[in-house]
Amino acid sequence: MQNQALIEEIKRLKAERRACVLAHYYTIAEIQDLADHVGDSLALARLATKVEEPVVVMCGVHFMAETVKMLAPGKTVLEPAPDAGCSLADSCGAEEFRRFIEAHPGHTVVSYVNTSAAVKALTDIVVTSGNAREIIESLPADEKIIFGPDRNLGSYINKISGREMVLWDGACHVHEQFSLEKILELKERYPDALVLVHPECPAPIRLIADCIGSTAALLAFARRSDARRFIIATESGILHKMRRECEGKEFIPAPPADSTCACNDCNFMKLNTLTRLRDALRDMKPAVELDGATAGAARKPIDRMLDLSARLGL
Ligand code: 13P
Ligand code: SF4
Repeated sequence: MQNQALIEEIKRLKAERRACVLAHYYTIAEIQDLADHVGDSLALARLATKVEEPVVVMCGVHFMAETVKMLAPGKTVLEPAPDAGCSLADSCGAEEFRRFIEAHPGHTVVSYVNTSAAVKALTDIVVTSGNAREIIESLPADEKIIFGPDRNLGSYINKISGREMVLWDGACHVHEQFSLEKILELKERYPDALVLVHPECPAPIRLIADCIGSTAALLAFARRSDARRFIIATESGILHKMRRECEGKEFIPAPPADSTCACNDCNFMKLNTLTRLRDALRDMKPAVELDGATAGAARKPIDRMLDLSARLGL
């Protein structure tokens, strides 16, 4: 079936089912264009608490669908791509994380939202890339902290805040892949270009950044900057919104090291296809189901994040 016919069918089913479609910036352009809301992890979590429709479709990865379900337990939460894992979330098993916490008694446990519900259930405060720095800096300076699972985001916050958080040794396979050499070559070719970097990138890439931030923060920076050209070191899906919202500006994807391809895709995010979105709305499945005890325990640190974010004006 042609894309246009699928798109029309999705719009019809969306209205029939009274469904709200949420999508992350890393999904394909066609899904972003169909979605009711497109956002970063923080915005999507906030939206989950406000949706009025009885059905929410989360086009993203599994931990995002879990988070929506925890924040909107009375809704039917559909995930078109239930097989969309996340290498970062997968780098942190709940049992190993429990042992890590036990090995560091007296530490506050701060976890990135890219974690399973089971890991969140072991956590004191959840953070996203959009609020991690501010939330951690708002804790007393002498508070001992474990941060997991992203060693890159963790070391970035340690550096800018002067904290010495104990870091879990996890990383995202997409953000680890960017080539410093290829970005520097692009900089030579386009000396006017600013380099926008997601904090999941390793330190050498962060060192040459003009802006480090969540996907939403990078988009906001591109919108308000007077520069006309940008090199983007995060998943390439974000370029769709950047190009849409910043007319006349040029966005160049930062290339990965081990590929001839110019941009860097998250294979998990790209599992959200128009066909799967149509099927989910048509069949009302797969729906997220969570163990009640785990979901209850995991929601507490997410609520704490939302409260702290609101209090800090984020
Ligand atoms: P954001 O917090 O910017 O949405 O990033 C989520 C993510 O998965 C990055 O890889
Ligand atoms: Fe996970 Fe990396 Fe994909 Fe983000 S880009 S969803 S951290 S695997």
